[in-house]
Amino acid sequence: MREISVLVACEYSGTVRDAFEDVGCNAWSCDILPTESEQTKASGKHLQRDVLSVINDPKWDIMIAHPPCTYLSFAYAGKDRYSVERLQKKVDAYKFFVDLWSAPIEHICIENPMGYAHTGLLPYTQIVEPYYFGDPYTKRTCLWLKNLPKLTYYKPDIFGDEGGGVQWSARRATFMRTEQHRAANMAANLFCPLSVAQKNAANFMRV
Ligand SMILES: C[S@@+](CC[C@H](N)C(=O)[O-])C[C@H]1O[C@@H](n2cnc3c(N)ncnc32)[C@H](O)[C@@H]1O
Repeated sequence: MREISVLVACEYSGTVRDAFEDVGCNAWSCDILPTESEQTKASGKHLQRDVLSVINDPKWDIMIAHPPCTYLSFAYAGKDRYSVERLQKKVDAYKFFVDLWSAPIEHICIENPMGYAHTGLLPYTQIVEPYYFGDPYTKRTCLWLKNLPKLTYYKPDIFGDEGGGVQWSARRATFMRTEQHRAANMAANLFCPLSVAQKNAANFMRV
């Protein structure tokens, strides 16, 4: 059985790439920035370039993509939000999203916050929060899944006795920390159903 090749698109932290490598995959990250992960540096598996120049490589089995959300998120409410310049950047961001989604890779997961990608382009497949996976953070995150199972999780009652809404919202983490925790969990969750599928020689992967 050949190893699974994973492309983690738009990642310089190495978080998801390293997590996939830790579970035995041939995992690569790609970003226009250099990687900041020592594990990724040691492996030599970071492609510092435009990810659109690598998505046609036939070796990829799975792509996990974290495209920039700057022009897709609802968060920005500046008064230039309808300027022609900003609208053009939004169109470019839509195109990048579609280019990733239409990559010739059998299994694709795109991750982004709730925003225009969902309302104006393609409805998300699943919404997850870091606390569904045991992290003490909230960050509503959309996943667009192609030929991948939805992530399985336990959703605690954060307003119940154990967590407490006030405590949980007070512990909202910085974006980066939350992102890393969630991403590592996502990698682990994605890999579990894949390895089961492999064992069963299911029609899930090209093995
Ligand atoms: C929202 S950040 C995701 C960061 C990621 N979660 C991580 O842990 O490194 C989006 C990333 O996309 C990268 N990026 C933007 N356009 C790109 C392109 N055409 N090819 C590769 N990376 C790109 C940016 O440099 C940025 O690091």
